[in-house]
Amino acid sequence: MAESSPPSGLSRRVFLETFGCQMNELDSELVRGQLAALGYSFTDDPHAADVMLYNTCAVREQAENKAFSRVGRVGVWKEQGRKVVLGVIGCVPEREGEAMIRKYPQIDLLCGPGELDRLPLLIDNALRTEAASLADRVALQGNTTRRSAAYEAAQDNLEALDLSRAFDPDRAAAGGRSAYVRITRGCNKFCSYCVVPNTRGPEIHRPPDAIVDECKRMADGGVIEVTLLGQTVNHYRYVHGLSVGADGREAPQFGPGGGAFRAGGSEPDVGHRVTTFADLLNRIHDEVPSIRRLRFVTSYPRDFGDDILQVMAECPRICRYLHLPAQSGSNRILKLMNRGYTVEDYLDLARRARRYLPDVSLAGDFIVGFSSETEEDFEQTRQLLRQVRFKNSFIFKYSPRPGTAAFDRMPDDVPDEVKRRRNNELLALQAEVSAAVHGEYVGRTVEVFVEQVSEKARKGGGGVELGWTRPDSAERQMSGRTGGDLITVFDLPDGMRPEGLLGQIVPVRVEAAAPLLLVGSLLSPTERAGPMPLSGDRTGQ
Ligand code: SAH
Ligand code: SF4
Ligand code: F3S
Repeated sequence: MAESSPPSGLSRRVFLETFGCQMNELDSELVRGQLAALGYSFTDDPHAADVMLYNTCAVREQAENKAFSRVGRVGVWKEQGRKVVLGVIGCVPEREGEAMIRKYPQIDLLCGPGELDRLPLLIDNALRTEAASLADRVALQGNTTRRSAAYEAAQDNLEALDLSRAFDPDRAAAGGRSAYVRITRGCNKFCSYCVVPNTRGPEIHRPPDAIVDECKRMADGGVIEVTLLGQTVNHYRYVHGLSVGADGREAPQFGPGGGAFRAGGSEPDVGHRVTTFADLLNRIHDEVPSIRRLRFVTSYPRDFGDDILQVMAECPRICRYLHLPAQSGSNRILKLMNRGYTVEDYLDLARRARRYLPDVSLAGDFIVGFSSETEEDFEQTRQLLRQVRFKNSFIFKYSPRPGTAAFDRMPDDVPDEVKRRRNNELLALQAEVSAAVHGEYVGRTVEVFVEQVSEKARKGGGGVELGWTRPDSAERQMSGRTGGDLITVFDLPDGMRPEGLLGQIVPVRVEAAAPLLLVGSLLSPTERAGPMPLSGDRTGQ
């Protein structure tokens, strides 16, 4: 990690706002830890900050616009004479490149997601002198060749950053008892619409020992829920004996990509021990028993073997939940998207998942209005969504991204009003499916990881946004998630303090359901002592 500290005499308050996916949330946590160790403090008030950092997302134009609107706002403040260092970090600067700092002179520094270990130095440079050269204020992987020696060195630094992670009890939801742990960086898939392989670089797998150690450290600090992160987690694959770092320990390793999963495997594996994703799950489950919930995102619908499902079925503390983006229900569109699977492959996986894990809940992602998508293609997407019975789906209008194959080669020819209509129709259909899926839980008892005092209750609305109202809603409601990731609310029993429940896993009897919500009551201690329900609810759900 870079050796630097805030210059004395200057204030050290940092405002950090995060956009985008869980990877970015984890990166922000690492940035926070790294800067805190150097003496910086943090503020939630942008007006009180001396350093403003935006950790940005480039996956859709709308996400980028959020970053640019912040940059514009800080530009106005600076014109009005405010002295503040403005840093843009994450996927937007990596996609835009150095041109961004020339175009927006109010930006003091740019740092891509693969260079975050250099961020303290960049801030230091920006704080010390306004005259620092561009090279001192910009850290991007840019054109560093994928698989070059420079790339490998950068990976070692990133690994050090992940390993340096200090347990931060103020961090996450539920009093810091839930944590992300990265297993794979980058992505090799190059789906034709997607910027992630450009912004996050190639697929790199962390050594299993480093991952298990990190899980142990999190658990020792009180974490009971760990979510493993990767763009395609099921492609996790570490071949032992090939990559050794300067300290003699195993080092991060380039992923083989999908090739290793097809007949014959990949050559470097021959004669070497391999840790697969299934092995990794098994190890964490067995070696860190105080983790009561082990989750992972995101799964790629191809190369998801029965070995993973088998381990999930055998390990009660692995959540019965798969986030399995489908993107489209049309084989023609999936091909144009370069997804590498067919609708039939996808359905086969969903069926296998339900065979091994009857209670599994599935969440999907869909893109509507991709290049050349017809009503017929869209109808097939509707069919897939209905057939798979997703508990929820994230639905996006196609947003062409510069630098992707689709942007260069496929016209963005579905008019925006058609994208909007398809988006709304799919959302409405998903709401019906979600309501049916959630409705099946009424009368059952689920285990809920309590995360917060419900916002809705505080506003006195009783869950309006989630499609549910209860006029007699208690003063305070707690909310959390089941193992299958279903949001659940229940009233705070009389005489109980919310702090006593936050970060706990408690049994809740479900009494009502809405499209995205279960509503229930906390089982009393006597009820809890009674016979356990026969279903798998008490563990996975
Ligand atoms: N690695 C994950 C997804 C990461 S991006 C996977 O492969 O499934 C998260 C989601 O954003 C994607 O699943 C996709 O639905 C959406 N997305 C990505 N690029 C997009 C684009 N150009 N326009 C609209 N949605 C997009
Ligand atoms: Fe993007 Fe495809 Fe990689 Fe997911 S798998 S991050 S959608 S390129
Ligand atoms: Fe966005 Fe980068 Fe994540 S583009 S979705 S923040 S990997």
